[in-house]
Amino acid sequence: MTSESILRLGTLKEVSQFQEHLNLLTLKIPCDEEVLHGTASPLRTPIECGSIRIGNRIAVQPMEGWDGTTDGNPTELTLRRWRNFGRNGGKLVWGGEAVAVTEEARANPHQLMMAPHTERGLADLRDALIQEHRRTTGSDDDMQIGLQLTHSGRFCRPHRQDRAEPRIACHHPILDARVGLSSDAPVLSDSEIDDIIDKFCVAAAAVQRLGFDFVDLKHCHGYLGHELLGAQTRAGRYGGSFENRTRFLRNLVAGIRASAPGLGIGVRISAFDMVPFRHDPARSHDGKLGPGIPEQFESLLPYKYGFGINSSNPVEIDLSETVHFLSLLENLGIRLVNVTGGSPYYSPHIQRPALYPPSDGYAPPEDPLIGVARQMEVTRCLKQKFPNMIFVGSAYSYLQDFLPNVAQAAVRLGWVDSVGMGRMVLSYPELLWDATEGRPIDRKRICRTFSDCTTAPRKGLPSGCYPLDKFYKHSSVGVQLKELKKR
Ligand SMILES: Cc1cc2nc3c(=O)[nH]c(=O)nc-3n(C[C@H](O)[C@H](O)[C@H](O)COP(=O)(O)O)c2cc1C
Repeated sequence: MTSESILRLGTLKEVSQFQEHLNLLTLKIPCDEEVLHGTASPLRTPIECGSIRIGNRIAVQPMEGWDGTTDGNPTELTLRRWRNFGRNGGKLVWGGEAVAVTEEARANPHQLMMAPHTERGLADLRDALIQEHRRTTGSDDDMQIGLQLTHSGRFCRPHRQDRAEPRIACHHPILDARVGLSSDAPVLSDSEIDDIIDKFCVAAAAVQRLGFDFVDLKHCHGYLGHELLGAQTRAGRYGGSFENRTRFLRNLVAGIRASAPGLGIGVRISAFDMVPFRHDPARSHDGKLGPGIPEQFESLLPYKYGFGINSSNPVEIDLSETVHFLSLLENLGIRLVNVTGGSPYYSPHIQRPALYPPSDGYAPPEDPLIGVARQMEVTRCLKQKFPNMIFVGSAYSYLQDFLPNVAQAAVRLGWVDSVGMGRMVLSYPELLWDATEGRPIDRKRICRTFSDCTTAPRKGLPSGCYPLDKFYKHSSVGVQLKELKKR
């Protein structure tokens, strides 16, 4: 598989051509011929689940911008992105973006942070979003707006973008080596994890004070909550057995119910994972990254370094613990679940299928549509097992022009309750709103997965859609990114 051999979806003009292409690839991705409008649209029907009512089936995924101030406050760029979240028209705003519970928990020195001095700024983001949502849709009724709280764990870089300061839950022979961690490097102690839980509870109380409807307890993408779920080799209260590995979540929920009674709770989960991938240097040429290949894992079997992975073949998914985890959430009375997979750091093709790799990635090892189908299928499977929970699906942006057709079909068939939009929100926030209003789609704004939204932050610049959003394209950071990419 080479990038050149992957059919560019932008070249397909008709839905029928796309459907044929899916058939050729033998992929199970439902796709409706026609996108319905207004009240006839499945995407415009409300979700009702217990006390939760959400006005439509469109969700904005958390999308951080690496554009906060070094003291964790939003900037004008952050505000602009949150206005775009509002313009998306989705009644479910899943978290806005990752907000660190303390300074040392940040994934980069420009990540937002919850603290007394940032509360006003975070409240302004929510206000700006609601205002813009009202302007787009005419009303802010039946919205659910959450804030995603995070501890970046292994991927902490709180002080300098170029200096990893990992706070690991357990050793991972492949990922440790990537940042030069020795096998005796300290792991977070149980009491340090207790302290982190306390920080989450304090932050959640602030989330409630600021008027958010729910808090997302991030358990995805390799960050601390997710790493703990897979901490099979960890000793002590937070590692080893499934019960111990989910203690972090259970203690968080109990603590937040005490510190912020009545605040909704959602969980974004990497429902499956994979052994880390890297680019194949033997197939890199002319400055182009080679395709992704899995790191050598044969000496690590049975593989005990992940969650939702087949331990005897860690390039395969095993959802049995994921199902246990969702049962646990349901028993705890948590209804809001956002399904994602993998990690942007070590399996980007799993987490956000793309045709063009970011600077720290690799060329696609598979047609990115396979990655979309994988996340859709996992979500379908989980939704089937837990019909009373609200499932948000991820990784739809690669569907490009056909995103509305697939989103409608997935909701209509009950594969998912709400369709989350990630990268597409950066280039064309109102795509699904336009489609379900019956307006023509602006094809020039469709995300083509160039990955500059990731390459820019990897090079120390804010995220954004540099190729398609004129604001970034013509800005001084746009010029800087071009220069940096040339090097
Ligand atoms: C620039 C960028 C920022 C992101 N920020 C976050 C984040 O703050 N929290 C999170 O859970 N996921 C984050 N994600 C992942 C997205 O929410 C989403 O899962 C992913 O992009 C796949 O969805 P898509 O195909 O619609 O883009 C980010 C992704 C990108 C590309």
